Amino acid sequence: MMVFPPAHCLILLLLLNFVDAGRILWKIKESARHLQLQRVKQRLLAQTAGYHRPLQHVKEGRILQQLDHFNPQDLRTFSQRFLVNEAYWRRPDGPVFLFIGGEGPIFEFDVLAGHHVDMAEDHGALLLALEHRFYGDSIIPDGLKTENLAHLSSQQALADLAVFRQFISHSFNLSLTNTWISFGGSYSGALSSWFRGKFPHLVFGAVASSAPVTARLDFSAYSNAAGLSLTIETVGGSEKCLAAVQRAFAAVEAALMAGNVSKVSADFGCCQVPKDLNDQVELMQSLADIVMGTVQYNEEGVLMTINELCGVMTNQGKGNEETMEPYNRLVELAQIYRSTGGELCLDISHETSVKDLMNTSLLSSRRAERAWIYQTCSEFGFYQTCEDATCPFSGMVTLKTLTEVCPMVFSISQHSLPGHIAFTNTYFGGENPPTHRVLYVNGGVDPWRELSVVRDRTEGGEEAQTVFIEDTAHCADMSSSRVTDRWSLRKAREEIKTHVYSWLRMAAAQEKVENKKRL
Ligand SMILES: *[C@@H]1O[C@H](CO)[C@@H](O)[C@H](O)[C@H]1NC(C)=O
Ligand SMILES: *[C@@H]1O[C@H](CO)[C@@H](O)[C@H](O)[C@H]1NC(C)=O
Ligand SMILES: *[C@@H]1O[C@H](CO)[C@@H](O)[C@H](O)[C@H]1NC(C)=O
Repeated sequence: MMVFPPAHCLILLLLLNFVDAGRILWKIKESARHLQLQRVKQRLLAQTAGYHRPLQHVKEGRILQQLDHFNPQDLRTFSQRFLVNEAYWRRPDGPVFLFIGGEGPIFEFDVLAGHHVDMAEDHGALLLALEHRFYGDSIIPDGLKTENLAHLSSQQALADLAVFRQFISHSFNLSLTNTWISFGGSYSGALSSWFRGKFPHLVFGAVASSAPVTARLDFSAYSNAAGLSLTIETVGGSEKCLAAVQRAFAAVEAALMAGNVSKVSADFGCCQVPKDLNDQVELMQSLADIVMGTVQYNEEGVLMTINELCGVMTNQGKGNEETMEPYNRLVELAQIYRSTGGELCLDISHETSVKDLMNTSLLSSRRAERAWIYQTCSEFGFYQTCEDATCPFSGMVTLKTLTEVCPMVFSISQHSLPGHIAFTNTYFGGENPPTHRVLYVNGGVDPWRELSVVRDRTEGGEEAQTVFIEDTAHCADMSSSRVTDRWSLRKAREEIKTHVYSWLRMAAAQEKVENKKRL
């Protein structure tokens, strides 16, 4: 199977071409994933030149799933995409490592590289990745129509996983001796935890990296945590940096309030002068996104690091510009963002944004964002508001402005949101998910840690096990080790290994006992 285009694309390694439209935080996320893909390609191509040919081991498959698992009268189906890598599998008893897809397409590299793949190599595991329904190619042609999005939910996704588990067991002739372990990061990390919680008979253990298992409507804690991350000295932050960011956002707000709208828009390189308050909010959110994205993907090679951001915001190494105001430093950050992302200007038109999100074409560049925003309206909230006095960004970004998209794009009323979020937490357990043999891994720089499980709840040493990495960002543990990795990250991967390996030993011991009983 042909997987990757030829080698000349490798020179794109450091050129981040952001997609042409969308929220900045989303674009930064996509380019982080894109960059990982580039790194893996580069490494694999180097190997392919030798005698290893790992790419040839990846197979793509499809499974027909019910569009609605919970309505036997609805017989519609969709075709769900999955990937298999048998290169390391020790037949017939080796374990099965399942990588759970999240709010975007899965890629071959999900079964070719990453910490779970390294562990699969050590343990002779069969590697699988299942794409999430309604993302990537796992969608019906008119799936993005609002009435069909009713079938996009974490509950349906977990049912897909259960069916997939049985399907694979059958196709690969698996038995009780094949121990299943699930992996995921961010939203799919939460799915990994919930899969184990809801279907403990289908998966023996689960690793949940940077997993927001608690749904929350007003996620103001994100902004505050992002601000605190800017003060962590081991990653180049400082109190001075946070203060400069706060002053810069206050200055931009003041300039807008004073009616200097066209000057602000010219300074920050906006594509258009904000024509109303909605556009001004988009602008403030875009600027906050540059900082949030930098924090969330610190040291992933996207955009810049906290160290670099704080360098700009506190003017290090630029003696002659010591008097530069925080406002101008933020202007410089926006410039760095535009030049790194290859964007001529910041598109802050609220009207265009809403129009893009209403587009139900599968070719729309914001289709994954549309699907994900639907899930925030119907299940999770996660709105990164800034109304607290402690929020370092602009207070113009309120819960009211962020949730207007729900009625406007999906006809989900703002009043109904608290009920949806409460249901999600009731259904999955909120802050205290009943998840025995789930390992929660979080980074101290990652604002999403606020909604995850970061403290062991050791009743019998098994209830919610955790690994906390002081100085890394979102999902850092999931990639294979790199020479630039911090010591804490290396240590964390060792801890994760220890947990996974002990589960495999435990499963083998249990299976032996069961076998004896059967004889
Ligand atoms: C499936 O596995 C069982 C037990 O391991 C074995 O007896 C059987 O022959 C296998 N069937 C196929 C088709 O491989
Ligand atoms: C608005 O612009 C005027 C003229 O450039 C300037 O003097 C004033 O300081 C600006 N006000 C703010 C709050 O930026
Ligand atoms: C939706 O997006 C597609 C692909 O970008 C585009 O061709 C189409 O014109 C858009 N539809 C609307 C109604 O804007």
